[in-house]
Amino acid sequence: MSKATSKTITCKAAVLWGVREPLKVEEIQVDPPKASEVRIKMLCASLCHTDILCCNGLPIPLFPRIPGHEGVGMVESVGEGVTEVKEGDIVMPTYIGECGKCDNCVSGKSNLCHTHPLPFNGLMPDGTSRMSTSDGTRIYHHFTCSTWSEYIVIGANYVVKLDPRIPLAHGSFMSCGYTTGFGSTWREVLVHKGSTVAVIGLGAVGLGVIEGARTQGAARIIGVDINEKKRAKGEAFGMTEFINPTKDSDKRISELINGLTGGLGVDYCFECTGVASLLNEALESSKVGIGSVVLIGAGNETSGQINFIPLLCGRTLKGSIYGGIRTKSDLPIIFDKCLNKELHLEELLTHEVSLDEINNALKVMKQPDCIKVVIKY
Ligand SMILES: NC(=O)c1ccc[n+]([C@@H]2O[C@H](COP(=O)([O-])OP(=O)(O)OC[C@H]3O[C@@H](n4cnc5c(N)ncnc54)[C@H](O)[C@@H]3O)[C@@H](O)[C@H]2O)c1
Ligand SMILES: [Zn+2]
Ligand SMILES: [Zn+2]
Repeated sequence: MSKATSKTITCKAAVLWGVREPLKVEEIQVDPPKASEVRIKMLCASLCHTDILCCNGLPIPLFPRIPGHEGVGMVESVGEGVTEVKEGDIVMPTYIGECGKCDNCVSGKSNLCHTHPLPFNGLMPDGTSRMSTSDGTRIYHHFTCSTWSEYIVIGANYVVKLDPRIPLAHGSFMSCGYTTGFGSTWREVLVHKGSTVAVIGLGAVGLGVIEGARTQGAARIIGVDINEKKRAKGEAFGMTEFINPTKDSDKRISELINGLTGGLGVDYCFECTGVASLLNEALESSKVGIGSVVLIGAGNETSGQINFIPLLCGRTLKGSIYGGIRTKSDLPIIFDKCLNKELHLEELLTHEVSLDEINNALKVMKQPDCIKVVIKY
């Protein structure tokens, strides 16, 4: 078994020093992994729209901090007691673990493990950080990951082995946005054969929902986006109808979806924009009595007002982190589908940058033709 090298590594990383400040690509120090930890040499990372929230200081403004929570890397060294992975393994860092023993893991109903939770305090479970600036200032982690660094240290419980045949960029996409959408169609709600589905917001998350709904056998998948370029993307993933609410009419999204479904609404509606007011639209787009809404989008607005009446009328509202996907039990199922070429992950890659171009990458993300930006190390 490989042992942790005792040396601290000096490498480059994109450091965020304050709310909405440009990232500074600078040399940092990455400590060796402690017991039950793994140090990873990142091979590829990608940008998720939740990283923009991080740059905006949400959910907690911790600085200096290294953002990024999507990526794939190679194990460089392991700490004492790590048996799951070894030096040289290709791995995906995850931000939720799965112990298989806590109440939530045993329930089979949730991916939010109590033992290995999604951390918001920017620190490792022992309350310290493994990263510092060249003058010794502590740098906060982003969730467990901070993938916009050439090297990272992460708890072994938050590492999943990846088949080396999976293209690095595809592995990176599966580490957050795409899988969140895809997983939510069978782990948060069970989209049934012949059902009707609406997806509001067709970024990587919404396109993942479309793919999931298609593979679950949905009969109609209505995509909604204000960006006309998403029409073709949605179709590539299996969308059957498209609504551009700014172009098609001045009606509300729920009126347009109800108009397409004989006034009934859809069986399942997924909110994937992060625009708080659209949660009410999602509720009113789903069927009275039996419709389900999954909230995935996370926005700058920390609260929106939920209209009680649509929810009282028998609809179900479910919030989701990472699509309900359990990192040990469910990810291998998605990896197999990827290897069997059942997924359209290649459709997501629109831009590639080096780490030095990270600030430009954040601008590129706002362009209408951008789905995913990959950082190649
Ligand atoms: N819950 C989770 O675990 C989780 C995981 C990943 C991402 N997210 C969140 O999911 C959301 C989507 O992520 P993404 O990477 O796909 O983002 P994205 O920006 O690529 O996609 C959002 C899409 O919504 C569209 N949109 C924006 N405003 C709209 C409106 N008013 N009406 C219709 N469409 C509109 C945009 O044109 C865009 O195509 C973000 O809020 C992100 O933070 C949540
Ligand atoms: Zn658990
Ligand atoms: Zn994400």
